[in-house]
Amino acid sequence: MSGIFSANSDNIERAAQLIRTGKLVAFPTETVYGLGASAYEATAVARIFEAKNRPTFNPLISHIAHTDFLNGYAYTDDRVLALAKRFWPGPLTFVLKRKDLSPALDLASAGLPTVTVRMPNHPVALHLIESSGVPIVAPSANRSQSISPTTAQHVWQSLGERVDMILDGGSCTVGVESTIIDLTGPQVVMLRPGGLAKEDIESFLNEPVLLSAGNPDLPSSPGQMLKHYAPAHPFRINVTHPEPDEFFIGFGNIGADAPLNLSPRADLCEAASHLFDYMHRADEQTHFQKIAMAPIPNTGLGLAINDRIRRASYRQ
Ligand code: TXA
Ligand code: MG
Repeated sequence: MSGIFSANSDNIERAAQLIRTGKLVAFPTETVYGLGASAYEATAVARIFEAKNRPTFNPLISHIAHTDFLNGYAYTDDRVLALAKRFWPGPLTFVLKRKDLSPALDLASAGLPTVTVRMPNHPVALHLIESSGVPIVAPSANRSQSISPTTAQHVWQSLGERVDMILDGGSCTVGVESTIIDLTGPQVVMLRPGGLAKEDIESFLNEPVLLSAGNPDLPSSPGQMLKHYAPAHPFRINVTHPEPDEFFIGFGNIGADAPLNLSPRADLCEAASHLFDYMHRADEQTHFQKIAMAPIPNTGLGLAINDRIRRASYRQ
């Protein structure tokens, strides 16, 4: 039933039902349209990356409707709560230390010990999040490398039937993505300039906000900023015959009797949804000194999976 639907109350309720059952819904925010899924439905999160044709797993922004929700989700402090009180709902996103360690959230966090959160200033987005009863992760609702969508038609042109429902709430008023600040350290670091000016944050906090660009100690883009999760155990990829001392993670027929298999039916979405959880589990087991993983086909989501495991297997 994909297509564009006017964002009236009935359609928002239908959209919330879709979110709860692991489907993808594109919805308006004040910045750009987001391609949303429940943060807790890892297979739906994997479908976001597939629909966007993203060759890597970026961590996604969780959209919430109440600041109270942060309590179980992330570690907060007075500075976080003051910024939320002043600028939410609005185009400001926080990177925080992750408190909710459910494996279902691993893909949305790209395996990182952080979560990225914002409260959008749009009645349709807030209604949808509230009715869904879950945080909604949403990158901009466009194919990778193409321009960000500010109307429902842009979303349809870019993603078409890859989205289960597009809620049309008119044009986005801000039109650029949210400003992202990292609040995990003592100093506030801006990872992406966006809809809220740096000066507004500085004058409110009465302290400087560091720019990640131009500071030699800090990488210049969110992508580079990411410390990728890598297992502590030596990790070998593209393995068809594991050594006896290797904990094996299979895929499809390879490793059918392995202790973990990313997807016995060789489904790349299912494999992506398990990837970070299984890498963590393999790392936590104590019976093997090494980890090995079966080959993953390099098509569709396999590109993102291979990108990630290649980095994780890299050792100096
Ligand atoms: O305005 C917006 O922020 C829109 C609307 C839909 O809310 N969303 C959006 O999401 O722009 P996305 O996924 O297109 O951009 C989020 C950026 C990515 O570049 C990602 O790498 C970065 O934020 N990011 C997310 N979590 C991060 C983290 N924990 N550390 C560093 N960078 C992070
Ligand atoms: Mg984007």
